[in-house]
Amino acid sequence: MVEVPPVRATDAELVRTSFAALADDTESVARLFYATLFAIDPPTRDLFPVTMTAQRERFVAALAHVLGRVDDPDRLVPFLAQLGRDHRKFGVLTEHYASVGAALVTSVRRHAGDRWDDDLEQAWTEAFRTVAETMSTAARTERGPATWAATVVGHRRLGDDLAVVRLLSDTPVPRAAGQYVSVQVPQRPRMWRWMSPASAPNGTGELELHVRAVPGGWVSGSIVAHTRVGDRWLVGPALGRMSVDRAGGRDVLMVAGGTGLAPLRAIVEQMATRGANPRVQLFVGGRTRADLYDLDALQRTATTNPWLTVVPVLEESVGRHGAPEERPDGMHTVLRGTLAEVVAGLGDWADRQVLLSGSPGMVRATLAAMTAAGTPPHQISWDPLPPA
Ligand SMILES: Cc1cc2nc3c(=O)[nH]c(=O)nc-3n(C[C@H](O)[C@H](O)[C@H](O)COP(=O)(O)OP(=O)(O)OC[C@H]3O[C@@H](n4cnc5c(N)ncnc54)[C@H](O)[C@@H]3O)c2cc1C
Ligand code: HEM
Repeated sequence: MVEVPPVRATDAELVRTSFAALADDTESVARLFYATLFAIDPPTRDLFPVTMTAQRERFVAALAHVLGRVDDPDRLVPFLAQLGRDHRKFGVLTEHYASVGAALVTSVRRHAGDRWDDDLEQAWTEAFRTVAETMSTAARTERGPATWAATVVGHRRLGDDLAVVRLLSDTPVPRAAGQYVSVQVPQRPRMWRWMSPASAPNGTGELELHVRAVPGGWVSGSIVAHTRVGDRWLVGPALGRMSVDRAGGRDVLMVAGGTGLAPLRAIVEQMATRGANPRVQLFVGGRTRADLYDLDALQRTATTNPWLTVVPVLEESVGRHGAPEERPDGMHTVLRGTLAEVVAGLGDWADRQVLLSGSPGMVRATLAAMTAAGTPPHQISWDPLPPA
């Protein structure tokens, strides 16, 4: 456990309100932050990707967000310790924190202008010191590797914007089914992206990833179009707590949109290795039939595992909205509508543990519809989403 020196609530409040006052200006604060950082500590430039996109603004906003919460160590410390350990994959060292702190305080001070005073200077400096100490101590005391090297052993295109990539890491990445990892691909150096393995860990270092190219996306488009067997990737430590709570005794509802199926499939795959399981209803949604790329494999799993039911849901407006439709082979009954409409329309699911996984839009919409339909919010879990 990392010990954090306490920060006064008044200092945290000063940081919060002074950053909020810059709300319209975060882009230029971010620009000044990076210019200052790279001027006072030029080697830090090499830690960041060549292309400084909108991602950069999020880093400064994240910094300010955590600095404003340093008076709530119970929630912040575990998060910061994890963030600090994860920063090892960027090549971040303890000595970099002082430069980042100086660059941040300089850029906020410049933008605050007349509003800046000694109290603000002290509040920002103290808050940063606490955050930096927590992150760097956690990083220094972590014994596990920062990254794992892996080789691409399979790349299968499933249409224009989707690929299944199979990796074999040199040594297995410690992880649980349902967790996500970050990856760096040789075509996009230093652009780390989160991916959720679709395969359960089996001790061999195999990782199957389902990658959807998002329009204009730097990394996903490159993975789908340009990955080659033999490419060497880097994989970061696994994170996330999405799992089936067996002790809770509830049956399970899983709702997967597109490649959001991946972590849920990993959980199902792992459950299939056990004798007894709670009942699982897995709704798999997509806009078109092509989005239900894994349906046949899932259906085969369901055939040999009676605790699992797979329900495909298609948004495509063919047939009557909300009405079930039999496929000619009789294997799948397809429901029509968005996942949010279909799942929430079927009841309050109050007796279930609910796992949601998919695009940020799909998760937000399904969460809103289900809570409105009466599903107790504390029974619903999902992976972290980017800010709306
Ligand atoms: C916990 C977690 C697990 C994830 N697992 C997977 C996975 O298994 N498979 C997978 O393909 N992706 C997954 N993602 C998304 C992935 O990490 C990237 O965000 C996504 O591939 C886009 O990266 P990019 O570099 O191509 O786009 P960027 O260059 O970062 O962004 C380009 C544009 O696309 C938008 N955009 C970014 N992400 C999305 C999105 N998910 N949907 C719609 N628009 C978006 C951005 O706002 C921006 O306008 C996961 C994300 C998280 C947080
Ligand atoms: C002190 C507090 C810090 C906080 C709160 C913080 C926070 C963050 C966050 C939230 C991200 C995005 C993480 C992700 O999406 O994976 C990030 C990325 C990053 N951080 Fe930090 N960070 C801190 C310090 C540092 C330091 C000292 C450095 C070293 C120069 C650094 C370098 C980076 C790099 C290189 C990235 C990746 C950026 C990218 O992908 O574009 N950070 N940081």
